[in-house]
Amino acid sequence: MPEHKVVVTRDVGTKATAILEAQRYELVSWLEDGVAPRQWLLDNSPGASALLVMGTDKVDEELLDSAGPSLKIVSTVSVGYDHIQTSALAQRKIRLGYTPEVLTDAVADISVMLALMATRLGRESMQIVHDGKWPQAPWAPFLLCGQQLSSPDYVVGFVGFGRIAQATLTRLVAFGVSRCLFTTSTRKVPDEAYPGLQNKLGLKEFRSVTLDEIARESDLIIVLTPGGPSTYHLVDETFLRKMKKTSVLVNTARGSVVDSNALALALRGGWIWGAGIDVVEGEPDIDADHILVKEPRAVVLPHIGSATYDTRNAMTCTAAENLVRGLKGEKLLAEVEL
Ligand code: DGY
Repeated sequence: MPEHKVVVTRDVGTKATAILEAQRYELVSWLEDGVAPRQWLLDNSPGASALLVMGTDKVDEELLDSAGPSLKIVSTVSVGYDHIQTSALAQRKIRLGYTPEVLTDAVADISVMLALMATRLGRESMQIVHDGKWPQAPWAPFLLCGQQLSSPDYVVGFVGFGRIAQATLTRLVAFGVSRCLFTTSTRKVPDEAYPGLQNKLGLKEFRSVTLDEIARESDLIIVLTPGGPSTYHLVDETFLRKMKKTSVLVNTARGSVVDSNALALALRGGWIWGAGIDVVEGEPDIDADHILVKEPRAVVLPHIGSATYDTRNAMTCTAAENLVRGLKGEKLLAEVEL
């Protein structure tokens, strides 16, 4: 007789599945390709003790009501949890497991990749080759020139300075970056908040600043804040108009943080140099006619920040382990304090 009914909204791979199958659970899994349909989730959640969900599944009052009082834990395969109505979980004393840390390296790698693609005109350059136009674009001293990260005065600004931002900065230091500005919600003094980091990375400049200063002073701005209402359109037209014409915006956080219309205007109007984005407001419904996809200076990826086999296995296994621990009433590997 199974001890618990557990609903899993995607194929989480053999490793995480083995963790779940080792328990006496009734596993109800959506194994077809694609996001589990909402109705499937609502129909299958009644009586569930745990839900193992993805960032693409909305966990709200309706779903929690449908699951009913048996629900003890929601475990998400993501570090972000803006798809989860945390207040509703808190009210019902349902625990929330998530997967920070294990994806830090993968997302930092993609942040650097987008920074390089955007500063060095990766998309426009590749397009020439793919369109068979290289013969008409022979090497020339100033053809397809971009920005140099190791220029002595090059400033990288982080909007949000958590684990992934710090890992991204560490990588950028290897590219010659030595000046860093950042914003945090608490505006802490850098050396108190990040003791030893400036020395460890050998940074000439390391300052906590306002959003306004980040916009005006940075050559490369990397957005790495959580999503949700508090960061909605933090990067808007006003912000983008303050940026330098040679500056690049990278967003590897959440699409909602950047106003897509304003960014398209900024790129078209030459207010900024380029953009590299792994997340777009309204994703995945972004087609080839999307205002940003049409901008040659926008490098757009379909939310692949954490997409390496190592990382995704670590994420699904962490989520499975969180769920198992949660149902035993134990400490989770990573729990959101609600
Ligand atoms: C997360 O975990 O929140 C990421 O966006 C997935 O890559």
